[in-house]
Amino acid sequence: MNAAIATGEIEVVATDLKVLNKAEVLPFQLDKELSNEDLRMKHRYLDLRRPRMSKNLRQRHQITKAIRDQLDAEGYLEIETPILSKSTPEGARDFLVPSRLSPGKFYALPQAPQQYKQMLMVAGIEKYFQIARCFRDEDLRADRQPEFTQVDIEASFVTDEDIMSLIEGVLAASFKASRGAEVTTPFPRLTYQDAMNTYGSDKPERRTGMEIIDFTDTFANSAFKVFAGTIGKGGHVRAINAKGFACVTTGQIKRLEEIAREAGAGGLAFIKVEGGEWKSPIVKFFSDEEKAILTERLGIEEGDLILFGCDQWSVCCEVLGRLRIEVAAMNHLLEGKEDVLDFLWVTDFPLLDYDDEEGKWNAVHHPFTRPKAEDLSMLDDEANWGKIRAEAYDVVLNGYELGGGSLRIHESDLQARMFRVLGVNDEEQAENFGHILSAFQYGAPPHGGIALGLDRLVMLACGEDSIREVIAFPKNNKGADLMSASPAEVDFKQLRELYVKSTVGEKK
Ligand code: AMO
Ligand code: AMP
Repeated sequence: MNAAIATGEIEVVATDLKVLNKAEVLPFQLDKELSNEDLRMKHRYLDLRRPRMSKNLRQRHQITKAIRDQLDAEGYLEIETPILSKSTPEGARDFLVPSRLSPGKFYALPQAPQQYKQMLMVAGIEKYFQIARCFRDEDLRADRQPEFTQVDIEASFVTDEDIMSLIEGVLAASFKASRGAEVTTPFPRLTYQDAMNTYGSDKPERRTGMEIIDFTDTFANSAFKVFAGTIGKGGHVRAINAKGFACVTTGQIKRLEEIAREAGAGGLAFIKVEGGEWKSPIVKFFSDEEKAILTERLGIEEGDLILFGCDQWSVCCEVLGRLRIEVAAMNHLLEGKEDVLDFLWVTDFPLLDYDDEEGKWNAVHHPFTRPKAEDLSMLDDEANWGKIRAEAYDVVLNGYELGGGSLRIHESDLQARMFRVLGVNDEEQAENFGHILSAFQYGAPPHGGIALGLDRLVMLACGEDSIREVIAFPKNNKGADLMSASPAEVDFKQLRELYVKSTVGEKK
């Protein structure tokens, strides 16, 4: 008898014994957490034997099943779309597949089934969904894989409210099935502007508090020239109160300053409130009135750490947004809140974003997203393009973008106009998007949809912090599968059949 193991109280009386197979000594123990991820991935078939991993795969199955059942009950039809397809603009690089039968031509693996699902709406399929594999050649992170799975949805004659309430039902069913959790619906809504101003992010983590407070009015004529000067140039001064974090170490402050600089700030102004004193090189420039306003609006008390952002709007948001996340990690603000599910919708995204480097306008979501009807007239004047809002919405959970979608353009002329705004000329439109533009000429219904990142959803349901933990055979952060050693070199003969020649090693 061994009470320490699950089967320790079971005694087996054997009458016959047959060895089915032998097992070598395992490269790692299965009952201990292993920090060497490369080793885990190399022997993923063993790693998946660990209870935590098999539980994650089971939860993934339960969530996928709950989603299918929910969408089926709502009358949605599951339809597969091609993997060998054509480039569709979702903002990442494409994976390409050379065509043997059409020398010199390539398929692109889908970054999303976006255009196909819109074509299905023109085809009269009013409610479509797909558990769709998507491929994006982009820099990888804990919540990004080069191939991942979307719960992809599209419907005709819908409003944004219809899509949002459908998704609330799908997410509630997912968390019920996997964790037995009761999710409260409807989810709160925040506009993009409010999310950026209050949390410095379009996917805000709200469980940690620390809302951003604006002091631009307060410091417009301040004796502290760094603040007044920035405000004079159209910038903002904003601050967060890291409650009880005056105990921050010099090393931590250095790290926070580094983060602020990476986000584009010139420096990091801060105040430590210790021993009844405001400790900071900048406080001597503050008037009594400025101090009183700071104290009141930030609720400043003994032991607090105040961090400032002082920049143009977008940098100011970015800086304080990143500082909020870092302070929360340093000061363990999520402890005890791991099980809180903070769902919300972010709405009213901008339609277009100017890229200074490329010198052109890009779609914030994608080129098929509909401008808000009230803002449509602003398309007439480029000076207003940055102000146009989109009929787009993201669903956010605990600081992660779980999904995003929009109502679409369904008129051929408006779609062509949008392409022109994005710098796609008539010839390129005909070549790359001719099918969309002509499909819209045959009575295309108004439509809209969304895609949820299934891997992220399962990751959050399982309480993991990387999607690699909920994918059976994921890639590492270099896009490699260490178990099968892919990607790999191929025979010259194979390349020749595909009319492909590698330029590796050639001088540029
Ligand atoms: P979007 O590009 O916002 O929208 O993607 C939708 C969701 O897919 C997930 N996701 C990823 N998950 C893991 N690894 C990745 N590399 C990755 N990239 C995206 C995210 C994201 O919110 N066609 C539109 C949807 C629509 O308009 O209907 C689209 O793909 O959770
Ligand atoms: P200075 O007057 O340049 O010595 O700066 C005084 C304080 O303001 C220092 O703590 C700087 O880190 C901070 N500071 C300077 N520029 C900025 C900025 N753009 N944003 C936030 N803080 C800043």
